[in-house]
Amino acid sequence: MASLRSIRLSLRFVLPLAVALVLLAYAVLPLVGGLTVRWFVRDLDMRSRIIASALNTSLVELVNTGDRERIDAMFLRAIQDERLLALGFRDENGDLLYKTSTFPASLNRTISASHDLKFERLITLPQGPVHVATWPVESDGKRIGYLILVHDMSFVARRSDETRTYVIVLFAVLGIVVSLITVLVAHLSWRGWMKGVQAMLRGEGIFRPFEQPARSAELQPLVGDLRALLRRLDSERRFADDITLSWNPEALRRLLRQELTGERIIVVSNREPYIHAKAHGITEVQRPASGLVTAVEPVMRACSGIWIAHGSGNADRESVDRHDRVPVPPGHEEYTLRRIWLTKEEEAGYYYGFSNEGLWPLCHIAHVRPIFRNGDWEQYVAINQRFADAVIQEADSEDPVVLVQDYHLALLPAMVRSALPKATIITFWHIPWPNPESFGICPWRMELLEGMLGSTILGFHTPYHCKNFLETVDRYLETRIEHESSTISYHGNLTLVESYPISVQWPSPWGDTLPSVETCRREILASHGLSPDHLVGLGVDRLDYTKGILERLRAVERMLELHPEMIGRFTFIQIAAPSRSALEDYQAFEARVRNLATRINQRFSTGSYQPIVLKVEHHEPEAVNRYYRAADVCMVTSLHDGMNLVAKEYVSAREDERGVLVLSQFTGAAHELHEALIVNPYHIEQTAAALFQALTMPAQEQAERMRSMRALIRDFNVYRWAGRMLLDAARIRRRERLTARLSHGREHGG
Ligand code: G6P
Repeated sequence: MASLRSIRLSLRFVLPLAVALVLLAYAVLPLVGGLTVRWFVRDLDMRSRIIASALNTSLVELVNTGDRERIDAMFLRAIQDERLLALGFRDENGDLLYKTSTFPASLNRTISASHDLKFERLITLPQGPVHVATWPVESDGKRIGYLILVHDMSFVARRSDETRTYVIVLFAVLGIVVSLITVLVAHLSWRGWMKGVQAMLRGEGIFRPFEQPARSAELQPLVGDLRALLRRLDSERRFADDITLSWNPEALRRLLRQELTGERIIVVSNREPYIHAKAHGITEVQRPASGLVTAVEPVMRACSGIWIAHGSGNADRESVDRHDRVPVPPGHEEYTLRRIWLTKEEEAGYYYGFSNEGLWPLCHIAHVRPIFRNGDWEQYVAINQRFADAVIQEADSEDPVVLVQDYHLALLPAMVRSALPKATIITFWHIPWPNPESFGICPWRMELLEGMLGSTILGFHTPYHCKNFLETVDRYLETRIEHESSTISYHGNLTLVESYPISVQWPSPWGDTLPSVETCRREILASHGLSPDHLVGLGVDRLDYTKGILERLRAVERMLELHPEMIGRFTFIQIAAPSRSALEDYQAFEARVRNLATRINQRFSTGSYQPIVLKVEHHEPEAVNRYYRAADVCMVTSLHDGMNLVAKEYVSAREDERGVLVLSQFTGAAHELHEALIVNPYHIEQTAAALFQALTMPAQEQAERMRSMRALIRDFNVYRWAGRMLLDAARIRRRERLTARLSHGREHGG
């Protein structure tokens, strides 16, 4: 195996080198040929001149006496030289008077036809190339004729061939030597790098960078990344590996006990996990459609503690105690929900205005322009302070662990920090972070960044969002950024910026409580009047312009155009939870979705068949999970999304390993769920083709893709997401306590 790898490595260097040398040789060889011929011709010109002048005196005498016999004998002697093929003498009139028997007849004709009496040239005769030179023969300064010297040139061709062979051999030897040296150097460097990486993996130069620097300077850029990775794996392993259990509620509880000395967690978010809503005199508890709630609720159930959120339900006030608290989940209480009250004006400014007309479009590339107003900002500041006060009030120690959720509360970390300097504040940003130019649109960009930098840890879904955040801070604030450790130091506070891809509960909480996949499918199909073999596509979203619902419906339309055989066989069910409907952009969006669905239905409906079923209403998670189980395809086509947990929920619901996920490349989930059919939702034909591929995918392929995605979600579930952040927090707390103890010792002369 190792030798195979080494052969492959060598070939990687040697093959391009060999190709380059062959090309070079190919280019050089004709030049070499031309050059040799030129050299030899010059050589023959010289020889001809020497021979001619050596023969001149005797030839004059013999020609004057007309002694043919002796001339022939002299010529014969001269052509004993292997290269001199023939000699001849022509008089001033051009008549060839004397010549050797070897004088080519065809040459005779060529010379007679030539007007120049004196020349040197290369002539190709039937028997091969020859060099012909004519030299004047003079007696006492008077020319009596010309000596013609014919040299055989075939030896030049022979020499030229020999030279070519030498050049080829030279290139081959050069190639071999250079290859050997290259391969040797590559192997030595490779081995050095391998050893360096291995040493780093053993921890050398990683955990004690100042004592043992990484072996080779080329590897320095890796040190930071490896250090972070190893630290993470190391601390995660201590909780999951050794007890051979994957991350689950118990592992999280243990983590809190062991690493955070049983700290009570304080979660703070705008959206509450349970809404008490009263309709027709009856109060119901609803679970909102929110990725944040989907992820954080199971974590909170495992950790217990307190969750501070806006009490947005019309029966919320009736259900709390005098401290505005209510134990949840209703019926089997595991933690406390503390509600914060907002007036209509406050909600309009802080939630609808600054958060959802300003920050939401600012952070998503969905072609809706953000709107910023002074009044909204003032409400945003005031309400952040109200949430921060509640956190400070609920904290039962000077260093609580606070989990701040999302863009509604960007100012809160610094507010809590100023009252509780030792607090461990973990802020998680559930939506994308834009590039510095886009973020620069916000008039209060500096205040927002300063607020967030009150955090101990700042989490995003992807490394790309972390990078954008670091660049944004770099652009707008005077801070010290350590890229290697991904930390920002601002006004004495250190913030770790890290990616923690959020996930869902595993195993799915509905696995035991819901009917089987077959039953769910049968019931859902029947409830929509569809036959058991009807194909079902599903979309589950808040009715939000970032979710790509219009693009998705257009893709369904295109698929039906391209594959009319699917008309009557396929129905797309879109569950769209009403969201932020007080805002104009959302109202307009809802109208567009409804119009498009109606238009497509009018186009393709036959009898009772309608290709699109649009359900604009709230669905409880249990109902949504029945749909997940019934659907052949789930389409997630967000135009931009931090993670998108619908994608992960669908996969986790499919314990039968069937169903296909069509997933937008612009979601955080697309970085993890590679076996989904990844699409660019703006490209309607591509999405339509993926939908068709999904609907016609063989069961075996569905199972392979599903199995792989399920394994990922099992290993990287939401407990691990929270666990990683809490482990990082615990490590930072330990370090801070140690530093505090050391400086205390120094101050007291220790
Ligand atoms: C996104 C945000 C959450 C929010 C959710 C629902 O997932 O990141 O913070 O809770 O949307 O939106 P809503 O405005 O109803 O809370």
